[in-house]
Amino acid sequence: MSVRVRVPAKINLTLSVGPLRPDGYHDLMTLFQAVSLFDVVEVHAADELRVAVHGRYADEVPHDASNLAERAARALAAHAGVEATGHLRVTKEIPVAAGLAGGSADAGGALIACARLWGLDASPAALLPVAAEVGSDVPFALLGGAAVGQGRGERLTPVEAAQLHWVLAVAPFGLSTPEVFRRFDALSADDALRPPATGSPAASPPETDAELLAALRSGDLPMISRHLSNDLLAPALMLRPELAETLEHGTRLGAVGAVLSGSGPTCAFLATDAHHAAELAAQLQRSELCRDAVAVSAPTHVVVD
Ligand code: C5P
Repeated sequence: MSVRVRVPAKINLTLSVGPLRPDGYHDLMTLFQAVSLFDVVEVHAADELRVAVHGRYADEVPHDASNLAERAARALAAHAGVEATGHLRVTKEIPVAAGLAGGSADAGGALIACARLWGLDASPAALLPVAAEVGSDVPFALLGGAAVGQGRGERLTPVEAAQLHWVLAVAPFGLSTPEVFRRFDALSADDALRPPATGSPAASPPETDAELLAALRSGDLPMISRHLSNDLLAPALMLRPELAETLEHGTRLGAVGAVLSGSGPTCAFLATDAHHAAELAAQLQRSELCRDAVAVSAPTHVVVD
């Protein structure tokens, strides 16, 4: 027996970051969307659990037990009190260290695939607690669609969303999420030394605008574009100033909106329709700022074959 799961990457349309918590995480408020760029996770019945990785980005992730797919499978087995068995095969098409939650997608895919193989409840509701333990973005990988994320990003409220077309500009380098958050903390500490100012990232509690949620429901592109924001942009720019050029370049080429996804470095550009997205992707692809430019649509979901 085998199970095959296609799990989407995510982008963040907004990302507000609160102060550092005692557990080392930050309280967030984010608007996630799952996009049509997928990793594939398969599990084949076998006595012992192990993982193999193939696909375009296979060389950039561990091929041993530290791979997030295997870690997720072992966490599920421990939770459910069953033996961890099966050969996991990950086909890695989501760029790595890109702000697209590709590792979380692999973890989410492994949870669903193994739950099915082992005869456990494979619904998102049943898997969410173990997903949250494995990583902050894993719960959203299970849910897909569009959702507001709070807490570490693991407390999710699904929201209705019209179909949108995006271009993902994949950078020729990665960014480490903990490193970007550390820079965010340093910037917030600098701000705290100055007299109180509005807009200081850690000063105000994060919130998601009702206007944005309405625009997302109706597909109001100018309004969505006006609300795109990411508190991790400033720290990401400290590490990679050239990201400012990428964002400007996509906007100059006619994107309706532009935003850094997650902790970056992927920049997401909003297009008017699928044709516009394909055109924009072709133009961005020619730029040395991008390793790759991919036209995607959203929202999308996990597909179990
Ligand atoms: O949960 P996950 O392993 O995906 O998070 C990776 C890192 O990102 C954490 O170790 C932490 O440094 C940072 N992070 C954070 N606050 C969050 C989510 C992630 O500081 N809400």
